[in-house]
Amino acid sequence: MRILVIGGGGREHAIVSALSRSAHKPELFCMPGNGGTAELAENVEIDIEDPATIVAWVEANPVDLVVVGPEVPLVVGLANLLAVIGVPCFGPKAAGAEIEGSKIFAKDLMERHGIPTAKAEAFDTKEDALAYLDAHGAPIVVKADGLAAGKGVTVAMDMEAAQNAVKSCFEGEFGEAGEVVVIEEYLEGSECSLLAFTDGVTVLPMLPAQDHKRAYDGDEGPNTGGMGVYTPVPAVDDATLAEMVSILERTVAGMASEGIDYRGVLYGGFILTANGPKVLEFNARFGDPETQVVLPLLKTDLVDVMFATAEKRLSEITLEWSDDAAVSVVLASGGYPGSYTKEIPIDGVAEAGEVPGVTVFHAGTMLKDGSLVTNGGRVLNVTAIAPTMAEARARAYEAVDTINFLGMEFRTDIGLKALQALGEV
Ligand code: AMP
Ligand code: GLY
Repeated sequence: MRILVIGGGGREHAIVSALSRSAHKPELFCMPGNGGTAELAENVEIDIEDPATIVAWVEANPVDLVVVGPEVPLVVGLANLLAVIGVPCFGPKAAGAEIEGSKIFAKDLMERHGIPTAKAEAFDTKEDALAYLDAHGAPIVVKADGLAAGKGVTVAMDMEAAQNAVKSCFEGEFGEAGEVVVIEEYLEGSECSLLAFTDGVTVLPMLPAQDHKRAYDGDEGPNTGGMGVYTPVPAVDDATLAEMVSILERTVAGMASEGIDYRGVLYGGFILTANGPKVLEFNARFGDPETQVVLPLLKTDLVDVMFATAEKRLSEITLEWSDDAAVSVVLASGGYPGSYTKEIPIDGVAEAGEVPGVTVFHAGTMLKDGSLVTNGGRVLNVTAIAPTMAEARARAYEAVDTINFLGMEFRTDIGLKALQALGEV
């Protein structure tokens, strides 16, 4: 069995790692992969934003399944092209990926199917957007409509911040993604991601996880792709979880009723408001870094789950999970989410992996002349598993302390909210 995983982040290292534990012993390829996937899979140096090149590689190197990590290849129709050549794909076709690729599509879909979310309006001129801000006031949220790697969102607590965000979208800061701007009602509450495997009919939820989107401790600073994550999430009680699952089920059923055959992961980004969970965003893929804490706790064979998803027989699968807690801390390049330098030598990763329960998933790393160097904004995900949140957090930070590269930045408070909710700090 041969499986190709598309992507090269911490998420893809976690996916490759879970697939490598499978009883099917698949031969794994990762495109382009990173310094971590190189140990478990054969890395394939190909530009993954060009689906035709991926398909040409698959035709020359037949595989039984393609697993798509990031959103861009999905939004541009990689799954559609693979269907044409008869290769099963874990990840939706372009029509389904629109749920992530266009915030307006997602909002309209939610409205048609009664999914709770923030009220929002879209604007294609700066003047109209600024006039709407004047009418509604702050706090308010400004979003570039298209894909901006998690960085196109400004939560504006005052008018000046809101106006500046609108201006920078229309002045091209996010390229085409900012040609349409969505302005949204500000919602208050803790955030939680719930991902589910779905084949368009059956929806199997994973474990809720809490990401930390802001760059600095205490949820300060700019938005990032995600600086750390933990599971389980004490803020999610059974009733809340049931409502979140129901929202994912209704969303999948809604898409199915509109002719969208969605197969892959549906990622719900929720905010737990006083009026129940509401959807902040949907993604058409695994979360990064959520995957780094969720997949290590999956006891069911991921190869079986992924084939069943791609082949629309997910009703045959039951997911089993470990009861442990998991914490993952992102180590980022100095300057991220702004500009940063690459190819800085990294020390101590092997030592970190010797801390009990710790796995270091690589994100922006590569091997240069046989040594590990930085190659991106988010560099490593130090992930620890333990029977309790307190132990998982302690192990993760013990491992973080052994790693070093020039300019390394990380949050020191990942998992702290869980301990506070549990009354343990
Ligand atoms: P998004 O990429 O749409 O998930 O937004 C990124 C982050 O901005 C979210 O994780 C939230 O922290 C914040 N955010 C987005 N929309 C809202 C909203 N309507 N109210 C409050 N915070 C928001
Ligand atoms: N962790 C946020 C995301 O994957 O979009």
